[in-house]
Amino acid sequence: MSEQLSWWQKGIIYQIYPRSYQDTNSDGIGDLPGITRRLDYLQKLNIDAIWLSPIYPSPMHDFGYDVADYTGIHPMFGSMADFDCLLNEVHAHGLKLILDLVPNHTSDEHRWFVESRSSRDNPKRDWYIWRDPAPDGGPPNNWTSFFGGPAWTFDEPTGQYYLHQFVTQQPELNYRHPDVLPAILDVMRFWFDKGVDGFRIDVVWLMWKDEQLRDEPPNPDWQGGDPHGKLRHIYTQNLPGVHDLIRRMRALTDQYEDRVLVGEIYLPFDQLVQYYGSGDEVHLPYNFHLIDLPWKALVIKAAIEKYESLLPGDAWPNWVLGNHDRTRIATRVGPEQARVALMLLLTLRGTPTTYYGEEIGMENVAIPPEFIQDPPAVNQPEVADIVGRDPVRTPMQWDATPNAGFTPADITPWLPLAPDCQSRNVAAQEADPASELNLYRALTALRRAEPALHAGQIETIDPGTGAGSILAYRRAADGADTFLIVLNLGQAPCRLDLHHIAPAARIELSTAMDRRGEVDLSDLAIGPDEGVILRLGA
Ligand code: NOJ
Ligand code: CA
Repeated sequence: MSEQLSWWQKGIIYQIYPRSYQDTNSDGIGDLPGITRRLDYLQKLNIDAIWLSPIYPSPMHDFGYDVADYTGIHPMFGSMADFDCLLNEVHAHGLKLILDLVPNHTSDEHRWFVESRSSRDNPKRDWYIWRDPAPDGGPPNNWTSFFGGPAWTFDEPTGQYYLHQFVTQQPELNYRHPDVLPAILDVMRFWFDKGVDGFRIDVVWLMWKDEQLRDEPPNPDWQGGDPHGKLRHIYTQNLPGVHDLIRRMRALTDQYEDRVLVGEIYLPFDQLVQYYGSGDEVHLPYNFHLIDLPWKALVIKAAIEKYESLLPGDAWPNWVLGNHDRTRIATRVGPEQARVALMLLLTLRGTPTTYYGEEIGMENVAIPPEFIQDPPAVNQPEVADIVGRDPVRTPMQWDATPNAGFTPADITPWLPLAPDCQSRNVAAQEADPASELNLYRALTALRRAEPALHAGQIETIDPGTGAGSILAYRRAADGADTFLIVLNLGQAPCRLDLHHIAPAARIELSTAMDRRGEVDLSDLAIGPDEGVILRLGA
């Protein structure tokens, strides 16, 4: 079983936000040579693939998700030669490289949009979504931007509005025009030909819009918070037409050997799994449910069961704890529980994705108002705490030097470092055998070594009465040792009787890295915020 799986099934994806990983030219911003420099570190994490958030030329209105040239490298990050060097070195380290593909929108500085906006009869006019004003001169409908305000901007010279669901400078491509997808397929070909191993596709579930541009209805469940939640996005999200686009992207991908497509999709499980198609859409529709669900054992157990039951055919699952858009897990669940979260992520069935810094327990960093840069927070100061993403994008904490090894001491980093970076950093954690970093490495090494953990089946287990905070499951593969994972998602100690599973087992790893050896499963003690991996044998 294990031998038949691809790297993207057996392996672990590690997301790097390039601006924040490692600066090498003293401008306070991370760059490609910085990532190359850290490949030994990445290799020792036992991860298998690196996904880079966008590195393309961009005016950076949305920090690179506004792409001005899909086949170039932003000089801030380096040159194409730096990219080629990174790709070679990634491969030489036995790793894979996944790039971010942002097909839903371009920058307003992309030459396609410059042409499109130049006149109503330009051949590229309909590559974007232009509409006449409503009779009152306002926007064509009530659609809103994720980043605040209407999703339409009026373009004075040609007298029409264009659609953008993110910043004004991110006009949306019109996939009803027959030439647009082929242009994006050319982009994919360009990077595949270079040897890139796959793409994470940005907002893939938004790529197709209602042809009539109907108004979206109010969302009766909205309870305040992010204003974008006020409408039900039934005409801008998850429309059936998107699947045909994805199938065509996949068909191109399948012309190359062993490449992967990962889709950014925030949807309930029943809709999410449709993005596997019949094995002809994305390989991994991102499963973000651990980010959104209440951190409760019963809730997560039910989610695992539901997801597993809905996966079609031989669809391969995946799990994520965080990314550059969402609260860091250590902040959401607390530093102690964050270790349990790592154990959960790295023992579930399916490809895990780690967001940089999760392996050392990095937390959200409070950004003083004058340093806020992220557009949703800048545009909507009243909800900046809810929608701002700067706090989760701060520089990687490497060591105890003044800027934590991210950039030299006399340089101002593009975002402030965490206040705890002098104590919470890679160097300090390398020296501490029981650190989060060493827990992460032990978990990834075990996952890689054990077929049950990277390839096996999963079965949730009822931990018995009085164990409401315990999440337990078994991982098993033919001809390999079986494992029992027991996680305490709460702070009350528990004693469990699990003798119906086996009389005894061997503790292989505990979240505090302080327990090993034989235990009697009729009376298994689990401490507050503790997780254990037990080897049950073959
Ligand atoms: C999703 C990306 O993850 C986010 O960072 C970005 O702002 C939007 N898509 C727009 O591209
Ligand atoms: Ca730099």
